[in-house]
Amino acid sequence: MGLPMRPSPRKPSFAILRLYRTGQNTPDAVRRAREPMREYPSVPHSVLVSKHIYREAIDHLAGRVAVDYNDSDESLSGEQLRARLGGKHGVICQLTDHIDASLLDAAPSVRVVSNIAVGFDNIDVAAATERGVIVTNTPGVLTDTTADLAFALILGAGRRIGESERYLRAGRYRQWRIDLLTGWDVWGATLGIFGMGRIGQAVARRGRGFNMRVLYHDPFRLSEDAERALGIEFAPKGAVLKQADFVSLHCALTPETRHLIGAAELRAMKPTSVLVNTSRGPVVDEAALADALQAGTIAAAGLDVFEREPEVHPKLLQCENALMVPHIASASAATRTRMCVMAAENMLAGLAGERPPDIVNPEVLD
Ligand code: DGY
Repeated sequence: MGLPMRPSPRKPSFAILRLYRTGQNTPDAVRRAREPMREYPSVPHSVLVSKHIYREAIDHLAGRVAVDYNDSDESLSGEQLRARLGGKHGVICQLTDHIDASLLDAAPSVRVVSNIAVGFDNIDVAAATERGVIVTNTPGVLTDTTADLAFALILGAGRRIGESERYLRAGRYRQWRIDLLTGWDVWGATLGIFGMGRIGQAVARRGRGFNMRVLYHDPFRLSEDAERALGIEFAPKGAVLKQADFVSLHCALTPETRHLIGAAELRAMKPTSVLVNTSRGPVVDEAALADALQAGTIAAAGLDVFEREPEVHPKLLQCENALMVPHIASASAATRTRMCVMAAENMLAGLAGERPPDIVNPEVLD
């Protein structure tokens, strides 16, 4: 572009870490990752960072693009987003920001929307694609962190850990009893997984480590080799619900998966079974789940996500058998930092006219 190039200030340690975490650390790949970072022309691009993020990502952007940083934990309102996006070329956003057609129309200079999340249901991708806007996400780096939390909920809800802790803190532990707070074994039980992408597979591996039989359902069945390697069995939706002791949800939120688990599905599950959701809240009909937990249709639930976050259905809050956490599945400081840096890298690549590593709508470049 004939503009001066800015020398790279540091080595891409995150890129190297990512290779190791994803098992792609061949000597060649590591050597390439150690090479000085790609140099981006210091074009006068301007990027809105919609909400507080890890400092490393801001440092990564600084000097390469002009940054309008809303360094606050408060999300910008639709109105504020619209105003701050005027004249911007990109936005680094989070799952609390709703990027729709009208916002994109109000900000015609925006060329890249970089989401700091693997899920991107907060963005109207079709509208972005129609307008030639690149959308990116942050897959891979959060897989194991998210799977760890899903498994923590499987164990925690199955073994009634939240309830037990509340019992103890309330001073109710006066004597040990043979049937005190008995739960449901995870070891050797049947795990049913909906959505066998990266995170579903990582949860399946953990399940196999607990000697679980792992059934799964996904519109895209894995190859027989992949199923064998993971030790998992494909089954129709009804069979997974009927046979699983633990059902864990790992599908993206789409019109097809909205209320994938409703009253009928809950009735199909065993009364001793546990439902775990670390995908997106609306995949489960929350009112139906609260009814099922109160009626004993299923035994317990472990929830990281909710239909109308940050609101939680009032009936769920009354369910002792619901173990609930505030959307923290990917929340280790290391993983969240990597996600932020990855979003910055995607933004810089998109603005430099390159194909961002984690583009969601590659057809926009055709
Ligand atoms: C995601 O990445 O989609 C999670 O829900 C937030 O980390």
